[in-house]
Amino acid sequence: MNAIYPGSFDPVTNGHIDIARRSAALCTHLTVAVLDNLHKSPLFSVEERVAMLRDAFRQDKNIEVEAFSGLLVDYASKKGIMTIIRGLRSQDDIAKELPYAIWNRQLSGGLVETMYLPAEPSYQHISGSIVREVAALQYRGGHNDKILASMVPPAVLAALREKLEH
Ligand code: PNS
Repeated sequence: MNAIYPGSFDPVTNGHIDIARRSAALCTHLTVAVLDNLHKSPLFSVEERVAMLRDAFRQDKNIEVEAFSGLLVDYASKKGIMTIIRGLRSQDDIAKELPYAIWNRQLSGGLVETMYLPAEPSYQHISGSIVREVAALQYRGGHNDKILASMVPPAVLAALREKLEH
């Protein structure tokens, strides 16, 4: 099975990396697909997000990283992939994700299914948005970043510091 693990990844966290690796262990090939959304203003450009993900997965032979825009099911059908992977951290995620899965199945004429992996309990509280918020406030306040360092890969920590320290 080939699958797509889509997301904003602004930035990638250790929770995302865990979901991607656990999915890749079940797949022949996993594409991590980074949404290039013109309507959002992300902290990191799509090129920066792709580069950080490629760095994180440089030793994972069956994981590739690409950017996509437009409908996820159009991107999936161009690649001939019929499985979407998403991680679930909480009841809120379930409520948010189920309609997406139904939309994606209907939009693809019943071809594309979504499969879910539960987040590891130690990663359940991690999200790109909280990482961005804590990093912005912490670096402005000159605090140490030991907690943040346990939540994102080293290259992401360095990029957050670089972007937000000044
Ligand atoms: O990391 P996120 O922000 O939760 O990821 C959301 C994502 C990228 C999976 C979702 O927004 C998406 O698939 N966007 C692509 C546009 C699309 O296909 N929208 C319709 C889905 S119902």
